[in-house]
Amino acid sequence: MSSNIQNAAAPIVIPGHRSPARVAGPRSKFGPASIGHTLGHVSPEIAKVGLSEICLSYRTHGGERLLALDHINLQVRPGEFLCVVGPSGCGKSTLLHLIAGLHPQTSGQILVDGRPVEGPGPDRILIFQELGLFPWLTVGENVEFGMKMKGVSKAEREEKTRYYLRLVHLWQFKKSYTHQLSGGMRQRVALARALATEPDVLLMDEPFAALDAQTRDLLHDELERIWAETGRTIIFVTHNVREAIRLGDRVVLLTFRPGRVKREFSIDLPRPRVLEDVHVAHAARAILDELREEINRSLEVEYSVGVKPHLAPGAEQ
Ligand SMILES: Nc1ncnc2c1ncn2[C@@H]1O[C@H](COP(=O)(O)OP(=O)(O)OP(=O)(O)O)[C@@H](O)[C@H]1O
Ligand SMILES: [Mg+2]
Repeated sequence: MSSNIQNAAAPIVIPGHRSPARVAGPRSKFGPASIGHTLGHVSPEIAKVGLSEICLSYRTHGGERLLALDHINLQVRPGEFLCVVGPSGCGKSTLLHLIAGLHPQTSGQILVDGRPVEGPGPDRILIFQELGLFPWLTVGENVEFGMKMKGVSKAEREEKTRYYLRLVHLWQFKKSYTHQLSGGMRQRVALARALATEPDVLLMDEPFAALDAQTRDLLHDELERIWAETGRTIIFVTHNVREAIRLGDRVVLLTFRPGRVKREFSIDLPRPRVLEDVHVAHAARAILDELREEINRSLEVEYSVGVKPHLAPGAEQ
């Protein structure tokens, strides 16, 4: 059944204090002073990625249909860094798969630059937590791989490999194999490989979840810098609310199954942000309070004997 949760809730603006030193963040595209002010309601005409009334139901082993996403409406502006949080199983990965064109939605429409998504395309790339790097290829060859698939000429591949490996500070490791790198370095190779295909939209599914805190902090800095330098649109899924606030212009919170947009938070904090900052902690509390309600709902369902998951309308019970 359709939900009006997302329509009822206007984006909440997480206010920031503006110390002049920290306002001078790395972002060049919109300028730091505008961060967080005008985000939230993005009109479909200017959206880079637009989702209208997206529903997705999976067929389960028993032949029933499980409603994973329920009437998702979301507009992502060009160059926006959008983070998506929600309890496990709420449909975050599913949402990215739909935008990547790996799976068709059951109903609704997804537009990228105003054109319907009908399958994977070079304008979008999905980066998983499991990086999918090839262990038999060197770092340089891994970065070249995606471009080769696109038919990019050798000379151009070499030039871009050099450019993007420098961007992630790994040029000197171009001849290493991935087993010779740390987890954080491998993550940066995956990022360079994705960026080298020059997609407009980066879809990132918990890319830093398996990393230690120090490496993750470094990659936050690097991702923010690369985002500022390249002007890409990023949709970033995470379980970590502070990470979402550290990185996002906007944080979208999904409900437990079926996934609906429960609330949008426009993060009006100067960049670069620090995970331990009191304002980040304050913002995290506001989001966590709402997320906890959804996690509690998920626990009730998971631990209730005989309670069936939410089924798609018309599904057999
Ligand atoms: N291929 C599939 N077939 C059937 N059901 C699926 C399939 N993929 C996902 N699901 C179901 O859809 C729901 C959403 O899954 P999804 O992986 O999108 O959640 P998620 O929010 O990414 O979870 P997590 O935070 O644990 O990664 C879950 O209930 C899951 O069991
Ligand atoms: Mg997932």
